Amino acid sequence: MDGEPEPPYILAMDSTIPSADEMIEVAGVTFRHGDLDQIVSSFYGKVAGDDLLKDPFRSVHDWPEHIKRLTHFWWTRFGGPPYLLAQYAPVPKHYFAGFSEPLLKRWLELFNETLEEHAQPEQKALWSSVVDRMGQAFLVKNQMFHEYLEKNKPGGSSES
Ligand code: HEM
Repeated sequence: MDGEPEPPYILAMDSTIPSADEMIEVAGVTFRHGDLDQIVSSFYGKVAGDDLLKDPFRSVHDWPEHIKRLTHFWWTRFGGPPYLLAQYAPVPKHYFAGFSEPLLKRWLELFNETLEEHAQPEQKALWSSVVDRMGQAFLVKNQMFHEYLEKNKPGGSSES
């Protein structure tokens, strides 16, 4: 057909997970799918056992599924083609998990520790700065979401 090419995000069904050696390059830094998988798996292993974070993460009942979803998140975030039918809604999910500055601080500590253990220096530098910026953006969006909910409480006043 000579029409518009199909947007890559329209998938009829989940497609094959890339092999561990499949690579993407972002800002001159290369990641194998296997690198992302290893880092995400190792990170959530720490989160699940962490005194501060395990409670906010109690909504996760299926860790392998969460890891698969978050590996896909990072793969697509770094420009890889989507292979799961996944839509992400981090702002409400984080809000209802109790997202806060101290929890973000701990999350970032564990994430950077994981990068130190498993990533190449250039991967660590890039990924660490990306999560820092996302964390700051989530703090702002979390506050905006809170204000939105407060204003729109059922039966509540629209003032305050
Ligand atoms: C920069 C830091 C963070 C990033 C980049 C990040 C990223 C994400 C992403 C992409 C998702 C998937 C959203 C979806 O499935 O729609 C998610 C889910 C989640 N995150 Fe975070 N997150 C961060 C920090 C935190 C912190 C500090 C907490 C602690 C409250 C947290 C708790 C959760 C929970 C509980 C879920 C949902 C799990 C579920 O599906 O039940 N995250 N996160």
